[in-house]
Formats: sequence, structure tokens, C-alpha cells
Amino acid sequence: MKIDYYLEVASDAAREAGQMLRDNLNVRREIRYKGDVDLVTNFDKQSQKMIFDRLFEKFPEHDFIAEEGLDQQKGGDFRWIFDPLDGTTNYAHRFPVFTVSIALEWKGQVIVGVVYDPMREEMFTGIKEEGAYLNGMRIEVSDTHDLDKSLVATGFPYDLRESSNNNIAHFNHFLVRVQAVRRCGSAAMDLCYVACGRFDGFWELKLKPWDVAAASLIVSEAGGKVSDFQSEEFNIYKQETLGSNGLIHQQMVDVLKLGIKPKKE
Ligand code: IPD
Ligand code: CA
Ligand code: CA
Repeated sequence: MKIDYYLEVASDAAREAGQMLRDNLNVRREIRYKGDVDLVTNFDKQSQKMIFDRLFEKFPEHDFIAEEGLDQQKGGDFRWIFDPLDGTTNYAHRFPVFTVSIALEWKGQVIVGVVYDPMREEMFTGIKEEGAYLNGMRIEVSDTHDLDKSLVATGFPYDLRESSNNNIAHFNHFLVRVQAVRRCGSAAMDLCYVACGRFDGFWELKLKPWDVAAASLIVSEAGGKVSDFQSEEFNIYKQETLGSNGLIHQQMVDVLKLGIKPKKE
């Protein structure tokens, strides 16, 4: 089966679910707490069902995992990994920044990635070794080589109240080293913005495979670099995600090395 067909089905599913999310942004929603600050709405679940139904209809023999409790695995070569709504906290507050993220893994390697932003109608796509695109136009990372001049993004884990490994120290270090730091609330969008040069870099801790599977492929295919915080090989199941245009990667690693140690005066 042609890889383009997987991409086409994934894009259609992301568009359809994304449009449903956009249409319901201002509608009353049911909010349930998974943790102190970790929410889920009825629309996360509706989006998951829409995406699953569409993918399953075309690829009933494949495996599927998604954030809201979907885990249907037979140990086959193909596995769909998706986040039906990346940016739930924004969505629950009607803040119009969120995405749908769908990836296809083959024998443990992500080969197709789709991230759709329904508010801006932006479809980011990537196919392994075939490049990254935004609405069909090829995209590339930025050429900023100086961290001082860089716009970077991050996010915070849901256990930030309980865990000291909560990114606040890294955030403080970056704040005084870069041009500015943004916290958009959708890790998939943040990484796609690195891929198309709107951000120069992004780091975050404790992301899940569905947050990063599609977008990390899109960054790599746009000529960027994705690794862990030590610049070692990235893996969507790891706890650390560092994505950049490649040029500022080592400078970001150096900032991350400062860890939680207090800065010497
Ligand atoms: C979250 C978003 C957010 C990031 C969190 C993620 P969700 O995903 O990507 O930007 O900071 O770590 O969990 O819960 O909205 O799907
Ligand atoms: Ca997510
Ligand atoms: Ca989600």
C-alpha cells in the first residue's frame, strides 16, 4: 500500500475531527479532571472516536493507541498513535489554540505524521525521508544560529505541583538566554512551529508518544534536529523532547545542563 494513502487518510481524519472541535469551541462542554490540573472534555473523546472510526474503517488490521484510553494492539507492524485534541486546557477555556495529531508507526519507526490546526486551517504533514509540508508547501526550519536571537517554546507537565522535575528551573534559565519564550499549550503545534521556522527551538519534559510522534517526524523532515536533553537519539517513549533548527541545538543543551542548580553570581 502506498505511503501517500496513509497520509491522505490521516489528513482527512485530522481535518474532520479538527473541524468538529472548531465548531464546538464555544459550545458548553463537559469537563472532567484526570488530575489536579489535567482535564478532559467530552470533545476529546468525540474527536478520538471520529479518528479511530475513520482509521479503523480503512485499516482494521492495524494497531491503535490514543490518549483517551484507546489501546487496541495485536502486535502488528503498523500502529497509529494519535492525540485527538492536543491543547485540552486551552480548549476547555475556549482559548483557540489546539491541534489534532496523528502518526503512523511501522516496525517501531514513525513513517507518517499529520498535525492539524483547525483554527488557522493549517495542515502540517511529514513522510519519512520525503520532507515536511504545510498545506502542501514544503517547509524548513529557521536559520537563526544565535540563542540570544531565538524565539523558543516550552510547556509544563501536569504533575508540576507535585514533582520538582517540573521544568520551572529550565524555564527560568531560558528566559534570560533567549529573545523570548512562548507557552502555547499544544506541544504538537510548538514542534510544527519549529519545523516551519516560526520557533527556533522547543523543549519539554514528560510528553507522551501521542504528543510528539507526528510532530517530531515533521521537525526532522523539515531539516531540524530532535533529541533528548543530552543531544542523544530521540525516542517518542522518552521523557525528554528537545527540537530545534539544529543550529541552536547545542546552545539549548548547554542551557538544559544548568538543570536545577542555582546560577553562580
Ligand atoms: C498537553 C499539551 C501541552 C503540554 C502538555 C501536554 P493535552 O497535551 O501538549 O502543551 O505542555 O505537557 O500534555 O493534555 O492538551 O493533550
Ligand atoms: Ca497532548
Ligand atoms: Ca490530548
